[in-house]
Amino acid sequence: MTILSTIPEAVVAPQTMLDDVVAGLSQRQKTLPSKYFYDVRGSKLFDDICELDEYYVARVESTLMAEHVDEIVSAIGPEVLLIEYGSGSSSKTRLLLRNLDRPVGYVPIDISSDYLSQVGLALQAEFPKIEIMPVAVDFTRAFDVPTPCRPEMKRVVYFPGSTIGNFQRKEAQSLLAGMADLAGGNGGVLIGIDLDKDRDVLHAAYNDSEGVTAQFNLNMLRRINRELGACFDPRNFRHRAIFNEADSCIEMHLVSTCHQTVNVCNYSFEFQENETILTEYSHKYTFRSFEQMANEAGLVVKRSWTDANNMFAVLYLERA
Ligand code: AVI
Repeated sequence: MTILSTIPEAVVAPQTMLDDVVAGLSQRQKTLPSKYFYDVRGSKLFDDICELDEYYVARVESTLMAEHVDEIVSAIGPEVLLIEYGSGSSSKTRLLLRNLDRPVGYVPIDISSDYLSQVGLALQAEFPKIEIMPVAVDFTRAFDVPTPCRPEMKRVVYFPGSTIGNFQRKEAQSLLAGMADLAGGNGGVLIGIDLDKDRDVLHAAYNDSEGVTAQFNLNMLRRINRELGACFDPRNFRHRAIFNEADSCIEMHLVSTCHQTVNVCNYSFEFQENETILTEYSHKYTFRSFEQMANEAGLVVKRSWTDANNMFAVLYLERA
């Protein structure tokens, strides 16, 4: 089976990115969309974050998946078309691809087209019997799912890593509703969610001692400079991650260390000293708070798996 060596699509048209950046920086609380973290360097930095001791998320989820893989694949069933939102390096998916019962295809969906095409090629070589069909899009917008050569028995949407937590409640709920539609009547959704926990553990995970998360956060400015010709000086910003108790989420910010003006194309934005750009939310759920949101999106929890310390949960949901 062969796949294209490059994915022929400009994923984020510069105008879209410019519109998003200008809209975000024009708000009272300046914001930048977290989806712009993931250029090639940002995707690699995120992989590095997942290797950090302090960033328990990836490690706990992988252990959980490995311990329960037999039950998970039997909940999913045979001859599935697996569709992954925000696939990145697809590192967690290899376990499923190795253990699923005769999967017909795998559709990794990611906004970073260069990275996606490298990963797609590597996966096709590793899993020659599974049709690998990468789709380079922003999964929050409408997209078509490619049809595999072999018809599937069911579609399962896979959304690991608690990436759902990077969306605000309304958006997360509409994403879940979209997944339910995509999976269809007999399909399912397999999702990883990060659970609420000790504040010190959360603080350390998002303010790691090696400064990798800081680099990941600051890389967004470098990307905007490169792709939009902006003039952010990353030395004039520093990383900060705090827990917002009211919304039960980590907020990542870039803090302006001085009074400065930054030009982005023909726009200019003034920053006061200590003014921040909010770059990411990372929601932490209770089982109940997530279930309620999923129910409102038309999904019911069929199976769930958690670790002994209740750090993380993997849920299998179907349409109500
Ligand atoms: C991708 N996402 C689930 C990560 C998170 O934990 O919210 C992104 C991240 N941001 C900082 N560290 C990791």
